[in-house]
Amino acid sequence: MTRVALLISGGGSNMLRLVEAMQAEGFARPVLVASNDPEAAGLAKAAALGIPVAAVDHRSFGKDRAGFEAELLKPILAAQPDVLCLAGFMRVLTPDFVRRFEGRMLNIHPSLLPKYPGLHTHQRALDAGDTQAGCTVHQVTAELDAGPILGQARVPVLAGDTADTLAARVLGQEHRLYPAVLRRFVAGDRSLLQLG
Ligand code: GAR
Repeated sequence: MTRVALLISGGGSNMLRLVEAMQAEGFARPVLVASNDPEAAGLAKAAALGIPVAAVDHRSFGKDRAGFEAELLKPILAAQPDVLCLAGFMRVLTPDFVRRFEGRMLNIHPSLLPKYPGLHTHQRALDAGDTQAGCTVHQVTAELDAGPILGQARVPVLAGDTADTLAARVLGQEHRLYPAVLRRFVAGDRSLLQLG
């Protein structure tokens, strides 16, 4: 059974959807939820579902990204994952870390990549006057938010939208898209999934 570790930084709603899908459908096994923030609300939610959790506070490493990643790697390697899912993980990973998991690390990003890599995606879509927004699941490569795209889901931008209302609409699609892409990825399917 494919073993999946998940990295989060916050509430972990995408992580929960992935764990629930894996547990309900049995296509993979969640073996670890790890966070760079010991206070991340998703950790307790994962623990309540019986998933081993770990936290490595990036703040104690200052600018030492490699030191932080070396510590984060310990629980990850101990869990022996086949696939790593970034699910609202808000630290940029070094090329060394990425290389270790290249070809088996996924990320969800709240824009229709290649538009709006990085932060503040919803405000940038509104500022540009876009009529559509959405989310992307892609493989992680050393270049931020630029790896091969596995799936996208679209939502309309509505009159009166704020970054918050748009983010909420996109998040609803993230919850559909990520489990669907992971299910296909585990089965060896790298073709593009388009929803919405
Ligand atoms: C999600 O919208 C995800 O796409 C975004 O953070 C949110 C996490 O929510 N990720 C990024 O912006 C990555 N650069 P969640 O913790 O409820 O899953």
